[in-house]
Amino acid sequence: MYPLRRNRRLRTNEAIRSLVRETIISPNDFLVPLFVVEGKGVKDEIPSMPNYFRYSLDLLENEVKELWKLGLKSVLLFVKVPDNLKDNQGKEALNPNGLMQRAIKTVKNACPDMLVMTDVALDPYSVYGHDGIIENGMIVNDATANFLAEMSLSHAKAGADFVAPSDMMDGRILTIREALENDGFINTGIMSYSAKYASAFYGPFRDALDSAPVDMIDIPKDKKTYQMDYANRKEAIKETEMDIDEGADIVMVKPGLCYLDIVREIKNAVDVPVAVYQVSGEYAMLKAAAEKGWLDHDAVMMEQITAIKRAGADVIVSYFAKDVVKILNR
Ligand code: PBG
Repeated sequence: MYPLRRNRRLRTNEAIRSLVRETIISPNDFLVPLFVVEGKGVKDEIPSMPNYFRYSLDLLENEVKELWKLGLKSVLLFVKVPDNLKDNQGKEALNPNGLMQRAIKTVKNACPDMLVMTDVALDPYSVYGHDGIIENGMIVNDATANFLAEMSLSHAKAGADFVAPSDMMDGRILTIREALENDGFINTGIMSYSAKYASAFYGPFRDALDSAPVDMIDIPKDKKTYQMDYANRKEAIKETEMDIDEGADIVMVKPGLCYLDIVREIKNAVDVPVAVYQVSGEYAMLKAAAEKGWLDHDAVMMEQITAIKRAGADVIVSYFAKDVVKILNR
């Protein structure tokens, strides 16, 4: 009771504050998303993601070496697929010499101990910009899940340590797990995007990969029949528990900041590591506000990352990873 308890004593100076700090950020917290394109010498800034780039394989090599030096030991790969290779089925995704498969090998050659996770979803390969195969104007579930299992297998064969299905089809974790087991890839992990919401915060990412749903008659305009309704909370627990039952090693909540209530609930409910994806729109918002001089970029970035970890994130997927770690290393 006051004045016996004066809470401000523990805030007197930075030494005591750091001594009693509950949440500490380290390079080990991060999984770094990387965008890969065809070509040579390409380092393309993404217009809606300032200071974030798409790399061709030769420059990807330098980038992962730099990440490794900074203490960032895990990457999540996304590919931008040339338009002429896109179709409804995503066939190019199975090409053993496709961009993703070569990207995996490039990272492993450059940094053999780097943990390589791959995005498993149809949208970058789909002419329609959807995460599933479309029949009669609908996203078909089971055929898509089967395809994603083949895609996962192809990534595992190329050397991926983890596959990360980001599509939200029902049952795909089990389908993928069985395919990996049956082919002997018993140590290939699955990080499931388990509570992934139909969010408007993915806009800049879709610019980066040119993967937005097309505006065509008979093609769904959005992803609301598979990604979750952002009004829902209990459903996130159900989705996550089902993915764990089906074999997910790591589960994920996405997006990050607006969904930290969900992160905490899931963290309390499950006993596997929980990843949080601070998505492209979250990155873009801070960059834009900082550019205008309205927010202190580094201070807000550290506050946001700390909030994500405090909410329960064991793994943080963030475009800020490098910026954060540079500050930590100062
Ligand atoms: C697609 C995928 C998306 C993101 C990761 N994988 C976009 C979407 O679902 O439309 C979004 C990442 C971001 O916004 O940073 N399977």
